[in-house]
Amino acid sequence: MTENSLFSNEFLRKMKSAKSVAVLTGAGISAESGVPTFRGEEGLWKKFKPEELATVDAFLSNPKLVWEWYRHRRQILKEVKPNAGHLALRDLEEKFEKFTLITQNIDGLHQRAGSRRVVELHGNIRRNRCQNCGRIYQDVSLEEREKPPTCTCHGLLRPDVVWFGESLPPEAIDQAFYAAAHCDVFLSVGTSAVVYPAAYLPLIALQYLAYVVEFNIEPTAISHQVSEFIQGKTGQVLPQLVKMMGPGTS
Ligand code: OAD
Repeated sequence: MTENSLFSNEFLRKMKSAKSVAVLTGAGISAESGVPTFRGEEGLWKKFKPEELATVDAFLSNPKLVWEWYRHRRQILKEVKPNAGHLALRDLEEKFEKFTLITQNIDGLHQRAGSRRVVELHGNIRRNRCQNCGRIYQDVSLEEREKPPTCTCHGLLRPDVVWFGESLPPEAIDQAFYAAAHCDVFLSVGTSAVVYPAAYLPLIALQYLAYVVEFNIEPTAISHQVSEFIQGKTGQVLPQLVKMMGPGTS
């Protein structure tokens, strides 16, 4: 496949004239860094049954077990690096007046790649939060503890991520919905687009007449609705998009 045949002329034209771009990423963008996806063959779902561990009930009934599971996941993340897909999105940010990178990932790899404006819908695994009073703890050395540390209020610390049955951070949701409704181009990148409310974002962008392009290794539930579906690994395809955009800002 040549570079030119990957993207339609219309998509490249829209990108070059866009003032505002919004991007939604999912586990697929981090797959090439070696972070397991949720619903793939090697997904975390199969290995660790997250639906049984990533809940407040599981944490309150066995805090040490849930903490240990997160220690394991944090360990994986220490050993991985941002890949070419993360770096391409960082480069893309520089080309637009307004660029909002919305992620469902909790791995912090976009920030490590240098992306500046990142909206984290599902929290960040490196931070902790008191289950009781909500106080945030940024100190990453806490994750070395063998059981959950306690807060000054005596509550237990837990990873600052969204668990099953919990609401998403309201500020992040507001920013994400605003960006989807006000962008010229929306990119849905490496997500199965089945977990709501994140999965609404490309559909909202379509309703507000943005050009919506999906990047995935295989079609998803929304592929037939988007303006364009681009099949391939994000670590290969996104750098080509940056190259096709050329130097400078739009
Ligand atoms: P999934 O595991 O559901 O989907 C990952 C998507 O990435 C799939 O559609 C794959 O086909 C695609 N993919 C895999 N490797 C790729 C690659 N190299 N390039 C491009 N695409 C690739 O992960 P998410 O959609 O992120 O929420 O899952 C959404 C949410 O479900 C997660 O944030 C998590 C889970 O419930 C919470 O924990 C709250």
